[in-house]
Amino acid sequence: SRTVMPGQTGTATATVERTAGAAVHILFGSQTGNAESVAEDAAAAARAHGLEPLVAGLDTVDINALSAMRRVLVITSTYGEGEMPDNAQLFWDAVESESAPRLDGLYFGVLALGDTSYDGYCQSGKNIDARFEALGGTRVVDRTDCDVDYEDDAAEWIVRAVAAVAGVDGDAGPGGDTGAAVVPVASGSLKTKSQWTRKNPYPATVLANRLLSGEGSAKEVRHFTFALGEDGLDYEAGDGLGIRPINDPALVDAIIRQLGVSGDCVVTAKDGSSVPLDQVLTSDYEISIPSRDLIDDIARRSGDAELQHILDTEDREALDAWLWGKDVLDLLQLGTTVRLNPEELLGLLRPLQHRVYSISSSPLAHDGTVHLTVASVRYRSGERDRGGVCSTYLADRVGEGDRVGVFVSKNNSFRLPADDAAPVVMIGPGTGIAPFRAFLHERRARNASGQNWLFFGDQHQSSDFIYEDELNGLTRDGVLTRLDLAFSRDQSEKIYVQTRMREQGRELFAWLEKGAHVYVCGDATRMAKDVDDALHELVAEHGGLDADTAEDYVNNLKRSKRYLRDVY
Ligand code: 2AM
Repeated sequence: SRTVMPGQTGTATATVERTAGAAVHILFGSQTGNAESVAEDAAAAARAHGLEPLVAGLDTVDINALSAMRRVLVITSTYGEGEMPDNAQLFWDAVESESAPRLDGLYFGVLALGDTSYDGYCQSGKNIDARFEALGGTRVVDRTDCDVDYEDDAAEWIVRAVAAVAGVDGDAGPGGDTGAAVVPVASGSLKTKSQWTRKNPYPATVLANRLLSGEGSAKEVRHFTFALGEDGLDYEAGDGLGIRPINDPALVDAIIRQLGVSGDCVVTAKDGSSVPLDQVLTSDYEISIPSRDLIDDIARRSGDAELQHILDTEDREALDAWLWGKDVLDLLQLGTTVRLNPEELLGLLRPLQHRVYSISSSPLAHDGTVHLTVASVRYRSGERDRGGVCSTYLADRVGEGDRVGVFVSKNNSFRLPADDAAPVVMIGPGTGIAPFRAFLHERRARNASGQNWLFFGDQHQSSDFIYEDELNGLTRDGVLTRLDLAFSRDQSEKIYVQTRMREQGRELFAWLEKGAHVYVCGDATRMAKDVDDALHELVAEHGGLDADTAEDYVNNLKRSKRYLRDVY
């Protein structure tokens, strides 16, 4: 077959005889499982095209192996404000390094997943795309940057990307690209996808909505149980559950009043149909967090000098501070001259997004049901009580027998060890306990022989020790080998989970040496970083390692998927 010029491959695929089974590496950087799921879609498309897809997490790819690869599709999300997702950071460190090898034989494409409401939109994908090119790689398909509504853009990119790499001829350098350099992901992920998706959620019946936190708690943590029904909704311990929220009707009413119209006034929905305004505001649009389009528009119309100044200077921090506690209604109330008509407003709003929570049940132990452990977000601002869109929908407006739109958000990266004998260390303060409740019940149901160690904490033992009875039961049954508690406000000095990890450093290191898998779930901005520091320190101290070698030790844990995080 003849050589095809990259870039012309869209038409070339038809005229070129394809190399049977040519390897295409589909590498994902995923935090919550979305990019991994898109990678699987791309693999299916590649297989249908006669290619041999090899799907792997970015961190499992050695930089020298990368330079020997021929066809590579990278699908990566961005985490936080422009950071690499957990399973891509080591890969990025190596690729970014001055000592990175050339990628002259590499034909690649990048799909970036992101969220326009954060700084550093799709930054991870942009970085990899630019760096591969700088190292001599040839881009065969343009990068697509996807916002939260990624499905259609991703599907369109996959079609172009697979056609493009299929048109790349021949093998890479000596030895060719056999695809042997990476470990393909476990077959569990190759299961067929559920019919229940973000766009087509399953109407699950609510079986329970009960308060977990006790009297006097500063928090309101609730336990929700949903029936899986008979229609093929299934999950594994470690997955998340996506929820389609419904907006607070009081806020919807207030916005409609502010617009000076009536709720039954008819507007044109996205699909062209005519629907009452109150209905679309209730279930289709984000009315709590103002979109950037709305902010810009209101700034212009209201002439608000402070807001205008913040926007002019592009001061992101000042904008965040200004926006704190403000919703769409606050913006509409800014300045007396603002009067949008309903369709203008809808044109400026973002679609209402689902929220994903870590599942706190095990399908083996909690037959036919799926459980969530959710803290209700409530605060007061500008003389109004406000709440998190989804957590207060669940807490206040969902009861036994009601139906809630749900779908499973697969997280194949956050799984118990396949080896039931492997020890497990779980660090999950607050609602971070959710997937570990699932793991512990799963290990009990599986009769797993491996030891289990949980670090849990919150403000006060008397009011915040959620699932206390269950955890005691798991201890009695010998499932929970160790439980270390950190209640931060029961004494004058703060005690956090990482305090307990340090105290138990010797033992914890011994568990690591015995092959323990370490899991962290919960707050990403502070807790997960501090826990990461503590882990590095205790490895250095008890392993007798200097800081660099301790970092290598922890990086090896990450590479072998023995240090996994579900943080948000
Ligand atoms: P605090 O609010 O008393 O500071 C769950 O929210 C628990 O996490 C609380 O006990 C909270 O303590 C604690 N927490 C706050 N910051 C933390 C951090 N940086 N690392 C670990 N835990 C933290």
